[in-house]
Amino acid sequence: MNRHLLSMADLSRDDILALLDTATQMHEVQHRQVKKLPTLRGRTVINLFFEDSTRTRSSFEIAGKWMSADTINISGKGSSTSKGESLRDTVLTICAMGVDALVMRHSASGAAHQVAGWVDAAVINAGDGMHEHPSQALLDAYTMRQHHGRLDGLRVAIVGDLLHSRVVRSNLLCLRNFGAEITLVAPPTLMPSGIREWSQADGFAITNDLDEALSHPLDVLMMLRVQRERMSGGFFPTEREYTDAYGLTRERLATLMSRNDKALIAHPGPMNRGLEIAPEAADAASSVILDQVSAGVAVRMSILYHLLAGEGAEQ
Ligand code: NCD
Repeated sequence: MNRHLLSMADLSRDDILALLDTATQMHEVQHRQVKKLPTLRGRTVINLFFEDSTRTRSSFEIAGKWMSADTINISGKGSSTSKGESLRDTVLTICAMGVDALVMRHSASGAAHQVAGWVDAAVINAGDGMHEHPSQALLDAYTMRQHHGRLDGLRVAIVGDLLHSRVVRSNLLCLRNFGAEITLVAPPTLMPSGIREWSQADGFAITNDLDEALSHPLDVLMMLRVQRERMSGGFFPTEREYTDAYGLTRERLATLMSRNDKALIAHPGPMNRGLEIAPEAADAASSVILDQVSAGVAVRMSILYHLLAGEGAEQ
């Protein structure tokens, strides 16, 4: 594995499986009364978040703490960038304090990649604009493997605001290593440009018709959030029409389960309940949305372990 985690494209199938296997061991810590491993004692991990986050930021923080690292959170809003300091000066300042890993979320695509060229610390991309979110793809893969016992050949549909989604890009780059049968579903206005060429190169399907996609059995249905904060104009007529055509409604949930009673419902969160996903689907027995959150801690422990502790370290 590389020194940084910037993109799923940098990880081989073996790297991914090694990260997931370590995460399986780490997951066990969550069920202990004393959640503490000595693995990263004396190491410092900074979470530098220029965009809002609930699960990603707190799970990296918990992951670091459970492995005895000193973890510190810095949010863009409270940092000197709001006084006009450049991103480069901010990260160089933070890293001058002696930092081992920098977990970074930023609204600009490529930001983490650029920062990795400036600092000695291991840089972990926790979401860069509309580009990538590798730790999310890894926790999604972890959850799929946990429930289905494999990743190879899984039938996965990813539905919703593909245009603004860094999660979908990282998931495609992850799942292509396992011969997954992937279908992407979105209205034409929320399909990223160039997706047709990418789908031909990587062999996944794209459609504007969710009901058509649901007429085939699926192992995983991943719903994506409508990212209103990234939308400037009208990408769909009304919320009601979006839900009618692209929402996981109670009726579509019944169709999904009738084709495959082992189908899983995933969502990276945060959800717009009632818009892209009905409460009945979010809370269904087949929903793994909270399992994804739980896996997030284990997967992020594994990432920190592989980047900071390396071979032969005490687990
Ligand atoms: C995602 C993100 O921030 O890219 N959320 C997350 O990390 N769990 C998806 C989203 O914001 O919709």
